[in-house]
Amino acid sequence: METILFNDSPEDLYKAAELIKNGEIVGIPTETVYGLGADASNEDAVRKIFTAKGRPADNPLIVHLADFNDAVKYTSHIPEIAYKLADEFCPGPLTIILPKNDKIPSVTSGGLDTVGIRVPAHPVMRRIIEISGCPIAAPSANTSGYPSPTTASHVMYDMSGKISAVVDGGQSEFGLESTVISIENEDTVRILRPGCVTSEHLSRICRNVIIDKAILKEVEAGETVSSPGMKYKHYSPQADIVLLEGAIEAFTEYVGRNYGDDVYGLIFDTDAESFPYRYLTYGSNDSQLAHNIFSKLRELDEMGAKKVFVRAPSKEGVGLAVYNRLIRAAGFEVIRI
Ligand code: TXA
Ligand code: MG
Repeated sequence: METILFNDSPEDLYKAAELIKNGEIVGIPTETVYGLGADASNEDAVRKIFTAKGRPADNPLIVHLADFNDAVKYTSHIPEIAYKLADEFCPGPLTIILPKNDKIPSVTSGGLDTVGIRVPAHPVMRRIIEISGCPIAAPSANTSGYPSPTTASHVMYDMSGKISAVVDGGQSEFGLESTVISIENEDTVRILRPGCVTSEHLSRICRNVIIDKAILKEVEAGETVSSPGMKYKHYSPQADIVLLEGAIEAFTEYVGRNYGDDVYGLIFDTDAESFPYRYLTYGSNDSQLAHNIFSKLRELDEMGAKKVFVRAPSKEGVGLAVYNRLIRAAGFEVIRI
């Protein structure tokens, strides 16, 4: 199959929406990362997503709507707190898990009786939802296990020949996937995947915000998880990633002791001046680190890196989301120095 590259002109968005309406799958920009979109109610179309990504069938897809008020069409119950959260954070990088109804087929929900609802903010994604008239199921548009794509060329790299089209809508603003939450009761939500809507943001609307323990540690074999995605190896480039937690002096010394061909540091902009080894930087505050992390991991692969020592972000605010992706990219190899 030849994968067409569309731009964000009205004509191209119309063609992309038509493909989705007709049961094809298309790479679409969102403000978090690029998604691989299909009509969420069309089982055959949704199966194509799992095949193109090589994704396990029990890992559910998020359903994207243009307006949170449309969630009533696809769910059996919406708690009051979900509306309050949606008022504050939708459109935006938040996914709310709700009980699904039979408009959402079991393939889309990975066999669960719930569905993640997200209202994206990116105008291209919004336009495609509106023109197609479809609820759009979309996981991140990477090959399963590889870092999520934040540009159209990342999607092309992973998906060319496997999907009908990619729409180029520029670089993703946030660079990390949405915050995924479940609702425990009217006062309590649980963060299943951290993102740019942080626990501090959620606390403004909801009294109790629980950070699921699987966010900061490896899920053990046989352990029950609230979100199937927590079980799988994720976000890993070809290079071996090691996350080092500590000051730049200790970081530099550690890299020096383990240096060799094709070894790199991935450090903060502010570290660069004194760092004597091969490196890339990924920003100097948490939002920048989030914006850049996936594209830098891909860039390191392109450069032929075999081992990358990454300077760990803080676990506060958006830093927690970056940290969560990095420990998975590192296969949980975190060293405190
Ligand atoms: O920002 C995003 O969320 C991007 C863009 C494209 O919208 N999408 C995305 O989808 O990251 P994906 O499939 O790569 O990650 C969705 C995560 C997975 O870890 C999945 O297990 C979890 O959300 N998830 C989806 N539906 C769920 C459900 N009903 N219950 C629990 N976890 C769910
Ligand atoms: Mg993903």
